Amino acid sequence: LAGLRTERFGRQLHLRDEVDSTQIVAQQLTAAGAPEGAVVLAELQTAGRGRMGRRWHSPKGKGLWFSLILRPDWLPLSQTPQLTLLTAVSLCRAVRQVTGLDAGIKWPNDLLIDGRKVAGILLEANVENGTLQHVVAGIGISVNLTEDDYPPDIRAIATSLAIAAGRRIDRSLLFVELLAEWERLYALYRSEGFAPIKLLWEALTVSLGREIVCRMPQETVEGFAEAIDEQGALLVRLNDGSVRKMFSGDVEFR
Ligand code: BTN
Repeated sequence: LAGLRTERFGRQLHLRDEVDSTQIVAQQLTAAGAPEGAVVLAELQTAGRGRMGRRWHSPKGKGLWFSLILRPDWLPLSQTPQLTLLTAVSLCRAVRQVTGLDAGIKWPNDLLIDGRKVAGILLEANVENGTLQHVVAGIGISVNLTEDDYPPDIRAIATSLAIAAGRRIDRSLLFVELLAEWERLYALYRSEGFAPIKLLWEALTVSLGREIVCRMPQETVEGFAEAIDEQGALLVRLNDGSVRKMFSGDVEFR
């Protein structure tokens, strides 16, 4: 891959024309001993996975659909939500850098432009005996989709970089930039902890200081999104004045 500036991220690169999901292929490679930083990138996914059991629309050649293997065996399990935020920061910074677009992070891990979703992150952690073994971090970026590429039900809530920018975006350039940013922040996180990542996240988020509804499989919480804490959890102030800590969920603005 031309222009790759990383030491490990993307150095082992598995390019595929068509897969069910890059997450599944990456899990298999992980089991076969693939190193940290190995990436599976596909032109087309026939069963792309979204969060909460949803599908991820991944048409051929129009996006960046890939999964990266992490082996953060040094990370306490309770801190895994921070990895999601770190990934979102890397994604947001790379998109801004390459496109000049005003992209923002919606907690925990959606990338929005003009209030519409342009990219998503799916982290699947493997835990054994209470310790983190590896994480398969999937990123889907809708790069060059046109309005017609979207099924009608998601057209209203989704956009692509090309739609937002009004021009085609070079996928390789974005991919190379993202891997560089991600590797850099991952190293920073390992040496300095979550504090510098938290600052970057706070500067790029569109979720804080707003009334939100957060939906989880078991319950729905409504309140004011006040802050994220040291763990990476979202702190939501409820109507009764109490504060709830959220680790995941689907946020809607009110
Ligand atoms: C979401 O916002 O719901 C997360 C979407 C994640 C999509 C990416 S595309 C590459 C990787 N492979 C998958 O099947 N899903 C992730």
